[in-house]
Amino acid sequence: MAERLQKIIAQAGLASRREAEKWIEAGRVLLNGQPAKLGDRADLTVDRVQVDGKILAAAEEKITVLLNKPRGYVSTLKDPEGRRLVTDLVTDIPQRLFPVGRLDFNTEGLLLLTNDGELAQRVSHPSHHVDKTYLVKVRGSLSAEMVKRLERGLILDDGKTAAAKVENIRMAGSGCWFELTIHEGRNRQVRRMCEALGLSVVRLKRIRLDFLDLSDIATGRYRRLRDSEIVKLKKIK
Ligand code: URA
Repeated sequence: MAERLQKIIAQAGLASRREAEKWIEAGRVLLNGQPAKLGDRADLTVDRVQVDGKILAAAEEKITVLLNKPRGYVSTLKDPEGRRLVTDLVTDIPQRLFPVGRLDFNTEGLLLLTNDGELAQRVSHPSHHVDKTYLVKVRGSLSAEMVKRLERGLILDDGKTAAAKVENIRMAGSGCWFELTIHEGRNRQVRRMCEALGLSVVRLKRIRLDFLDLSDIATGRYRRLRDSEIVKLKKIK
């Protein structure tokens, strides 16, 4: 959409609107190669605006999507082994998105992809303590002692884990499902916590991230986050 030049210059953080008007009058601003006049409008996706010779780039629209990651995808932007990438699943968004944190190749579930660095930092920085809930299936059963150790924190090779929450334990055949909520995001943390208890993980799915869940999103599908959800994520302390 075409906007007045002084507004575009102010939005780029170069000057106040008033100051930008003075720059236009002083001939410091070119519009498509010609000196701009007060009142000129431009659309940075089609017009070239230069201030003191420097071209103003169109600000990229910030987008965040919530993906229900299937097993068998890597959550990096490249894979030397040529495996499928989570970004291959996001097909109708022109911006280059990157994953917020990681889920292992065989972990499923909720993964955010964004081009918004501030949002990514809020969600993934360990100091912000964002709760992440995983649905875990292990072989065998989960004893009361194991629950206690998970909840108290257990020693891994990179230190003791913070207190976790275990809920909804249920047996299914020769295995056991439970929900584990942690707020740290160490590499392969849930699998390593289970390994430390001698448990073998059969399935792992992230089902919640703070107030976000997977409701209505089929495996391999995604949705754009609403503005209100983005505001809420950016308020995470
Ligand atoms: N913990 C794991 O072990 N793997 C994941 O992908 C996420 C959390």
